Amino acid sequence: MARKILIAPSILAADFSKLGSEVKRAEAAGADMIHVDIMDGHFVPNITIGPSVVRDLRKITSIPLDVHLMIKEPSKYIDGFRKAGSDIITIHAESERNIGALLSRIKSSGIKAGVSLKPKSGIDMIRKNLKKIDMVLIMTVEPGFGGQAFMRDMMPKIRELRKIYKGDIQVDGGISKITAREAVKAGANILVAGTYIFNAPDMKKAIKYLRG
Ligand code: DX5
Ligand code: ZN
Repeated sequence: MARKILIAPSILAADFSKLGSEVKRAEAAGADMIHVDIMDGHFVPNITIGPSVVRDLRKITSIPLDVHLMIKEPSKYIDGFRKAGSDIITIHAESERNIGALLSRIKSSGIKAGVSLKPKSGIDMIRKNLKKIDMVLIMTVEPGFGGQAFMRDMMPKIRELRKIYKGDIQVDGGISKITAREAVKAGANILVAGTYIFNAPDMKKAIKYLRG
């Protein structure tokens, strides 16, 4: 049976001066979860937000908060993000030496654990941790900024992963109506999209198009 395709709008592309209403707008348009990009200016060359914003978003939406940590030393911050109300915490495979222990810590705190691979990182980096995780995020752009071009050459990585992994495979970066089809065909089932959703003239239609 085909997997259900889930849509995760990335608030990186939202107007932060009205973040609450932007998130509500995405929820009303049919989003399955809200993707929250956390950047520290070290792991990636950009800075966004911290746990207090997650805490406040938690109050105004009932759909899951999917928190993508693009930060160094995530072990220092996962408790804060969990307490703030994250439903999924995704850490980068490249961010710390012992990601296995960290993923176990996230899971044992009662929420979902995800691990993300930058474009240059191979599946070997996470192979031994696949059993303990709920989601793998395959980056289809270099992390750090919205609005970049989809890296089609990541599709073989998704196909290879899908052969050995039954959990959720999320894609993030450059997702549009067209690239969404390619990612789903390769085996992805959760689509993150920032620019395509928040800049769409009709958000509801954009989410419907992504679902295919
Ligand atoms: C990039 C972020 C993405 C970003 C995607 O580092 O992880 O979530 O918001 O934005 P678009 O959909 O515009 O490529
Ligand atoms: Zn992201």
